[in-house]
Amino acid sequence: MTEEVELEARLEAQDTFEPPESFVEQANITDEGIYEEFEEPEAWERAAELLTWDSSWDEVLNDDNEPFYEWFVGGELNASTNCVDRHLDERGDEVAIEWVGELGETRTYTYETLHREVNEFAAALREQGVEADDVVTLYLPMIPELPIAMLACARIGAPHAVVFGGFSAEALAERMNAANSSLLVTCDGYYRRGDPLDHLSKARKGLEDVDGDVTTVVVDRLGDDAASEIEDELVYGDLVEAHAGASVEPVARDAEDMLFLMYTSGTTGTPKGVKHTTGGYLSYAAWTAHAVLDIKPEDTYWCSADIGWITGHSYIVYGPLALGTTTLMYEGTPDYPEKDRLWQIVDEYDVTQLYTAPTAIRAFMKWGTEYPEGHDLSSLRLLGTVGEPINPRAWKWYYTHIGNEECPVVDTWWQTETGGMMITTLPALNTMKPGSAGPPLPGISADVVDARGDPVEAGRAGYLVVNQPWPGMLRTLYKNDERFIDEYWDEYSIPERDQWVYSPEDGAKLDDDGYITVLGRVDDVLNVSGHRLGTMEIESAIVGVEGVAEAAVVGGKHEMKGEAVYAYVITEEGQEETEEFRAEIVEAVDETIGPIARPEAVVFTPELPKTRSGKIMRRLLENIANDEEVGNTSTLRNPEIVEEIQQKVREE
Ligand code: PRX
Repeated sequence: MTEEVELEARLEAQDTFEPPESFVEQANITDEGIYEEFEEPEAWERAAELLTWDSSWDEVLNDDNEPFYEWFVGGELNASTNCVDRHLDERGDEVAIEWVGELGETRTYTYETLHREVNEFAAALREQGVEADDVVTLYLPMIPELPIAMLACARIGAPHAVVFGGFSAEALAERMNAANSSLLVTCDGYYRRGDPLDHLSKARKGLEDVDGDVTTVVVDRLGDDAASEIEDELVYGDLVEAHAGASVEPVARDAEDMLFLMYTSGTTGTPKGVKHTTGGYLSYAAWTAHAVLDIKPEDTYWCSADIGWITGHSYIVYGPLALGTTTLMYEGTPDYPEKDRLWQIVDEYDVTQLYTAPTAIRAFMKWGTEYPEGHDLSSLRLLGTVGEPINPRAWKWYYTHIGNEECPVVDTWWQTETGGMMITTLPALNTMKPGSAGPPLPGISADVVDARGDPVEAGRAGYLVVNQPWPGMLRTLYKNDERFIDEYWDEYSIPERDQWVYSPEDGAKLDDDGYITVLGRVDDVLNVSGHRLGTMEIESAIVGVEGVAEAAVVGGKHEMKGEAVYAYVITEEGQEETEEFRAEIVEAVDETIGPIARPEAVVFTPELPKTRSGKIMRRLLENIANDEEVGNTSTLRNPEIVEEIQQKVREE
């Protein structure tokens, strides 16, 4: 047997892994008593104490008005002070943000220079009339101006709403209208696989559908490469220059004041505006970054997510900067210019922790070990994953070929709504079981229950629930308390007994050691490459195309993306089912949501499988997409259609 085959065989047989000794010796959290300590809500003070408060809280948790919990009640703080100013004395010359552009250029912000630009842009926002509680929309790709703008907003108490740069013009407009936002920060464009992309015309198109007057600030990222000239908009660079050396007193924010809004997909068409607060969220992001990612100020830590998603908010910007470390930001794709781009960056910057997604790991596996092998990855101390379940084979590949069996791997389960990690091993304390996220973190009470809300036996699949509040939890859906209750609390709570149970809408299994394996969504939400997409959103984009009568979208298994979008479409009388029409449908999805939601397959069908009461049998469509045995079709009104659709999918 070759060495490699031997290694594969050994790992294949191994189901559990212990924290590496070299890691344990230096870890932030090594005290086994920590789980017990967090049985009392007062223990959360330990998280809040990682921050600097303008005035301390009177009460850790107020649960008088469940499920509208309040944390660190009466406390005041500012997020930009915590992420920037307080590090100036000791770490002013140390690197806060290390930015690597796709074309190879770099920009380095020390805490000192970050402080300067955050102040300057905060002064510029003020001058534009932005006041505390005004929502500022940031529609930017992975360039340093994005975290700078977030921190500038936080400084003046204006909540930000970041819209992922890959989202469409329509998605931008929908979010700006929902948040009633009248200031937008965007850019002329950015680079993807070496080519400049036009972002400004997309932003302008979106603005046509935004109600009211909007002030737009544009970052000049592309210079002469830009396809759209900046015209009536304000230029970010000019604003910062005009306020050179400005100093803006950080606004003391109540712990419960909104720090930001983040829109995420739900089961109905309109995205949900998840509200996160200044005290609870920031404490939770800092605490989990400290306890799980083991971040220390002297680290060079890298999370490869996009700041447009919650992962980037909590673990590129707020958590790492609150802890005073160096956070690395990369603008581009992992395979540009070569498939070793990530490993080249780890090697060059001596990255100490890497936090990425299973979908990326599956791509690295497919590309082969020669890419990481060409680089020195020995600076790495910890590896993490997030966004979707990781299969044991990918976990083991990551552990071996990237971590050299010397780095613990944390598989972290959480959501936009939870603000930070909820279920994962503590890297120096718990045995790792590939494929299983781990036990709930200290202070987090999670369980797996059946449809009635009763706990299921170990090993059986059920619904994941969270039984106790935690500081990072969403407080409500923006201006929609009713939907907040409906979406998250209605299913298992028993208000008359004061039992409030949060439903994340994930299926899960619990094992005898209390480890939770998350199986995936149980609602009509897809997880494509770790990104959440509502089937309804995609369906409504498709039925908007002239000639489409009806559409049903489901997830099909996909080797790289985890899930892929399958669209079953019924055309109107007279509409031909051509390749051009298929392309038109795909383009409509691109335009309404963005390329991440692009269907893998568009299947034309004369009918959809429906029950006698007219309900579409989604489960069946999923079976067909996955080329699985379809179950009982006797409850269908039109069972004969099943075979016809199967045939079409196979031909695709
Ligand atoms: O289904 C779970 C899956 O991603 C969903 C949350 O998506 P989003 O709000 O976009 O946040 C993603 C980044 C935190 C969850 O409901 N998910 C996330 N992490 C894991 C996961 N599924 C399994 N294992 C994970 N580690």
